[in-house]
Amino acid sequence: MKKILIACCFLTLIAQCDDMSDGKKLYDSKCAICHTSARPNSMAEMNALIAPPMEGLMFHLKTSFNTKEESNKFMKDYIMNPTKEKALCMPQKIQKFGLMPSQKGVVTEDELDKIIAYLSEQYK
Ligand code: HEC
Repeated sequence: MKKILIACCFLTLIAQCDDMSDGKKLYDSKCAICHTSARPNSMAEMNALIAPPMEGLMFHLKTSFNTKEESNKFMKDYIMNPTKEKALCMPQKIQKFGLMPSQKGVVTEDELDKIIAYLSEQYK
């Protein structure tokens, strides 16, 4: 019985790790086209941005919500249905970059769960 339990724990762990690397791959292929990970280091890098860097966004989200669940829920909704009213981004950011296009049809709900799990682990 104990052995089975240990085996189960192991499998769950592996499954979770798998989810994380999936999340990173999905993020790299579906979000990183627009969002760089780190903040820009130079004026040139800054001018090349087409969307706010993830590091800053995640920091902003963390400080806007009390719990990870709330911020994850916000992200899940926003990424599929972004509107100016919902945006936590500062208005000048939206003026500069435009509103984020809905990722409906680009990511599935399932993929988005993995991306969000990855992001909230990555930027604690
Ligand atoms: C075509 C470019 C583009 C793609 C692809 C894209 N984004 Fe965005 N995203 C933006 C822009 C521009 C903004 C800033 C304006 C805004 O908030 O709508 C933004 C804002 C955000 C925000 C902050 C919303 C807020 O108001 O606080 C989050 C979180 C986010 N993106 C996550 C993602 C994730 C995760 C993916 C991949 C599934 C993704 N984005 C794909 C362009 C993009």
